Amino acid sequence: MSRFWSPLVHTLTPYVAGEQPALPDLTKLNTNENPYGPSPRALAAITAETTETLRLYPDPTAHRLREAIAKSHGLDANHIFAGNGSDEVLAHVFQALLKHGKPLLFPDVTYSFFPTYCRLYAIDFRAVPLDDTMAVRISDYRQPCGAIILPNPNAPTGTALPLTEIEALLIDHPDQVVVIDEAYVDFGAESAIPLVAHYPNLLVTQTFSKSRGLAGLRVGFAVGQPPLIEALQRVKDSFNSYPLDRLAIAGAVAAWEDRAWFEDKRDRIVATRERLSAALRALQFEVLPSAANFLFARHATLAGAQVAAELRSRAILVRHFPKPRIHDYLRISIGTDEECEKLLSGLADVIASLKK
Ligand SMILES: Cc1ncc(COP(=O)(O)O)c(C=O)c1O
Repeated sequence: MSRFWSPLVHTLTPYVAGEQPALPDLTKLNTNENPYGPSPRALAAITAETTETLRLYPDPTAHRLREAIAKSHGLDANHIFAGNGSDEVLAHVFQALLKHGKPLLFPDVTYSFFPTYCRLYAIDFRAVPLDDTMAVRISDYRQPCGAIILPNPNAPTGTALPLTEIEALLIDHPDQVVVIDEAYVDFGAESAIPLVAHYPNLLVTQTFSKSRGLAGLRVGFAVGQPPLIEALQRVKDSFNSYPLDRLAIAGAVAAWEDRAWFEDKRDRIVATRERLSAALRALQFEVLPSAANFLFARHATLAGAQVAAELRSRAILVRHFPKPRIHDYLRISIGTDEECEKLLSGLADVIASLKK
């Protein structure tokens, strides 16, 4: 607290990111990073860009990247907005498109940045409870609202809706913007990008942080019809003209074009997820069906906070959210097979010690 703060700062509840400790021999399964890292072609492109041209500002519109993304979806670059991670893209989305007279709707259990942005931008919101299976039920969104935002797959639950339900939501709300945050879509859900051409109220966001292994480069993007994209550009150009630096643009273009690397690592992560899910069930965990690169699971008898703390003392990090409805769950990022084996033996040890 300080008397020098603007009044708004006193009202903020900042988002708390998963910890990034520099401990030796850490098994880090807490922030949904990709254990295989980026395509070697992305690393080579970043190195090649590391020249004296760094004295020049980058392209403020990241046109090369927007064009590459647009082309693979049969769209033009004016359907794409690129930003410094999808968090920055989402921040602009909240400010540019989600503040209206009626409340913004999103699930009660969802990406915890959403209420944070609402407080930052003074957006009225209503949290819509997940159903008893911890899934989003589209019919619950049939109520007056200013706009809707949903992750698909949802986070931190990992459950996904089929495209038919996303389309039903768009049809139910022709006069509201519907934003689908697809940070995890590549791991098993259907993308809504093919619907963009048909629905002027749809905006889809995606990231290079998860399926493309580039969380450290900070690249995200949105796909929508040009009027929605123009709104984001107007906010960006009132905030920071150059959100993507030269290295980020070069690395992201190369990562996008290396489809073989992307598919191979994605498939490995999905296969590991299915094995880990079965192994957790055998340890008496209830595991939600996941279409993401993480699992959301709770033990039949042990408290989530205690299991997370015990794992941490064994240098294994998973994410625990001390929040209503989900405080007994752990969100476990999918690592390599070796990392998941370490988690499973750590868990077996924790369960045995806590049950004594
Ligand atoms: C649902 C969801 N959306 C968006 C993001 C933001 O990702 P980034 O800013 O790394 O693109 C995350 C990050 O964990 C997420 O879980």
